[in-house]
Amino acid sequence: MGKIKIALAGVGNCASSLIQAFQHYGNPSKAKESAGLAHPMLGNYAVSDIEVVAAFDVDQRKVGEDLSKAIFAEPNNAPKFTDIATLNVSVQRGPSLDGITPELRELVEESSAKPVDVTKVLQDSKANLLIGLLPSGASEATYHYAEAALNAGCAYINTSPVFLASNREWAQRFRDAKLPVAGDDLMSQLGATALHRALLDFLVKRGVRIQESYQLDVGGGTESLESLHRARDQKRSMKTKIVSTEVPYEVPVTAGSTDYVYFLGNRRESYFYLRGQYIGDADFKIDLRLVSQDAPNSTSILLDVIRGIQIGIDRGFSGPIDAVCSYGFKAPPRPYPLSVSETIFEHYIRSTRPV
Ligand SMILES: NC(=O)c1ccc[n+]([C@@H]2O[C@H](COP(=O)([O-])OP(=O)(O)OC[C@H]3O[C@@H](n4cnc5c(N)ncnc54)[C@H](O)[C@@H]3O)[C@@H](O)[C@H]2O)c1
Repeated sequence: MGKIKIALAGVGNCASSLIQAFQHYGNPSKAKESAGLAHPMLGNYAVSDIEVVAAFDVDQRKVGEDLSKAIFAEPNNAPKFTDIATLNVSVQRGPSLDGITPELRELVEESSAKPVDVTKVLQDSKANLLIGLLPSGASEATYHYAEAALNAGCAYINTSPVFLASNREWAQRFRDAKLPVAGDDLMSQLGATALHRALLDFLVKRGVRIQESYQLDVGGGTESLESLHRARDQKRSMKTKIVSTEVPYEVPVTAGSTDYVYFLGNRRESYFYLRGQYIGDADFKIDLRLVSQDAPNSTSILLDVIRGIQIGIDRGFSGPIDAVCSYGFKAPPRPYPLSVSETIFEHYIRSTRPV
């Protein structure tokens, strides 16, 4: 069993928390003691088995820098929770495509360097897994990196709400290339979608009748600005669909990002409302607010997905791996209720057969 060699497309806030986690949880004995990891070991893989071998971005404050510095460059505002030694991975200038919208130009400074050949960098670095951590609505950029992954023989993880793993043609292309793909739209560890799903599951299992529910949130990361202008409708539809899987009857549900509030920094504030009846038509109403840091919220699930995909590579699986996609993403090819997807994932880790 060798190292899991990963490359990152996008060195933004999620990348920052992920790289810091490698350092923080890199020692397997420490990882067991450290709060925050769902799986210190996943199958035979510890966090220390993951090695970053290449990274791409388009912002001039990141391109050409060692990854250890680039993750702390503006406009990133993910919290710093550990010091990082030099990684000897220089951030390469990726092709911009649709990665920088006019609104994002307020925050992103486009590099004047010539874009590299992504396929060649992946081949030269011997990466076996490319993780797309691109802005939410950047579909052209997502497809460009996915194409490069196919050409270079890399599996692909799509964290953004662009249809890739759940797009039939793309899924088939990964199957044909005998490479796994995972997506779409990563689900946070303690994110609004996960919490909303857990609340609904709890109420349904206790026989409570839900009448209506919503979940809306605001944030201050680059991603929230991006979502506001480009990906809001797509995100809302993906979130609403997956949240609705928790209720086995028709009920009005809305779940989505609403706005960008610059002074929140990496903080996200999510508001939940649930109304219904329990026995004897007794009414109840729940109003809740979750305050969280956005970037670290992506890390534990992403670490599980990376190792889950490597397990798939080891077993010779290709195309979307349902167990990984339904566990780690809001828009998987086959959505299941939260508790079912967790059971399927645990079973997949232990079994030697596809799920
Ligand atoms: N908890 C979470 O933060 C969370 C949860 C679910 C999904 N996601 C998804 O993860 C993705 C990344 O989120 P983030 O908060 O890190 O975003 P971010 O805006 O902080 O980072 C995006 C990075 O991509 C770079 N970029 C833009 N175009 C590029 C291109 N063509 N090539 C290479 N790099 C390019 C930007 O310069 C930036 O560094 C988003 O799609 C988001 O929807 C995040």
